[in-house]
Amino acid sequence: MIQIAPSILSADFSDLAQSVRETEKGGAHMIHVDVMDGHFVPNISFGPAVMKSLEGKTSLPFDVHLMIEDPDDYIEEFVTDNTEYITVHQEVCTHLNRTLEHIKSFGVKCGVSINPGTPVAFLDEALDQADLILVMSVNPGFGGQKFIESTSKKIEALDNIRKSSEKVYRIEVDGGINENNIRTVIEKGADIIVAGSSIFRCDDIKSETEKYVRIAKEYVR
Ligand code: DX5
Ligand code: ZN
Repeated sequence: MIQIAPSILSADFSDLAQSVRETEKGGAHMIHVDVMDGHFVPNISFGPAVMKSLEGKTSLPFDVHLMIEDPDDYIEEFVTDNTEYITVHQEVCTHLNRTLEHIKSFGVKCGVSINPGTPVAFLDEALDQADLILVMSVNPGFGGQKFIESTSKKIEALDNIRKSSEKVYRIEVDGGINENNIRTVIEKGADIIVAGSSIFRCDDIKSETEKYVRIAKEYVR
């Protein structure tokens, strides 16, 4: 099943719960939570308190994307009843194997993300352990950037590895997704589609979400 995960980075923070509820009404499958520390990426977004303020306001699972240095120090703070995935960046994890085990120890699924400049080969040793591989299709830090075409080759490569092995990770794509390129990334092998500005910077968040969910349903897998 292809899932749609709206990123609240582009939501109206003063009315976050309502914005999230609109995506839920539109059929969104998860809420993508972009956490930025001003070190790993040149922007600061929000921390666990903001995410936790949504607990009880939505039944959607949280898909936490940690764009932070030293993620091990903060992982536990993002564990809630809603948390389905916690994803860390390969580029900051000196002991990636240990970090992924740390996430799993809380009963949460673990993900690894790679920036556009990081090759799929750097994920080799994590592919058996990770539940999710997040392919960044923009340089992380900001919503509303343009999709970097060359990253779709990485989605395809990860899908090919999965098809020719016993590996079961889901593939997520994040950055610059809109209604013109969503089908391409799904056809390359992406299972979870993050969309931030294209959903939240619209007047009608619910019907915009519905549009993406409808496209996801065109694909049976
Ligand atoms: C980028 C974030 C993305 C971003 C996506 O650093 O990880 O999740 O919010 O936003 P759009 O869809 O606007 O590119
Ligand atoms: Zn993200």
